[in-house]
Amino acid sequence: MKLTFYGHSCFQVTIGGKKILFDPFITYNELAKDIDVNQIETDYIFLSHGHADHIADAVSIAQRTGCKVVASWEIHEWLNKQGVGNTHPMNTGGKWKFDFGTVKCTVAQHSSGLPDGSYGGNPMGFLFSSGEGNFYYSGDTALTLDMQLIPTWAKLDFAVLPIGDNFTMDVADAVRAADFVQCSTVVGVHYNTFGFIRINEAEARAAFGASGKQLLLPAIGETIDI
Ligand code: NI
Ligand code: MN
Repeated sequence: MKLTFYGHSCFQVTIGGKKILFDPFITYNELAKDIDVNQIETDYIFLSHGHADHIADAVSIAQRTGCKVVASWEIHEWLNKQGVGNTHPMNTGGKWKFDFGTVKCTVAQHSSGLPDGSYGGNPMGFLFSSGEGNFYYSGDTALTLDMQLIPTWAKLDFAVLPIGDNFTMDVADAVRAADFVQCSTVVGVHYNTFGFIRINEAEARAAFGASGKQLLLPAIGETIDI
């Protein structure tokens, strides 16, 4: 699989020729100013929850590309009201077979209000299973024992986990999350974007290394094979 990082928690994975974008937040991310949001092509957008730092560019990308947007029932209804009609509502615990593979919605311990104050339903993570491999994006979340269920559903090739602390897991909890989901290759997200979530990248890599794991921190705009 190929993964491109667009800053904060926004990344795109390509599976079977299908482009899948997660949590687009580019226009308002100072660190991603070299990314032209209007150049991003995608077949799908998956939204983990309704906070602005995960959906700020979702409506514009969806309207320009006509891609399918997958999110909670409540965010699906909100998107429909914004004029985005190509949506697929899901909710925690449910799974669906798409043309690239199967996605199961997992528990995330967080909150999910939309920018205009609308209720966004429950925050979620996503477990992707495909012929090219499996991965888990936890979304914004605390460390939770529910993560121990993940390896009972799929053997992961990589996990995408927040590491910035304050709003989500810190590095130490993300190392434990990697243990819970039984995955030694982790892409770190949700760090350094704002003052509250600045981290020391070398210390973060060392913490994962000390636990026999690899922390990948691709540069914004970088594509990696994973
Ligand atoms: Ni959030
Ligand atoms: Mn967030």
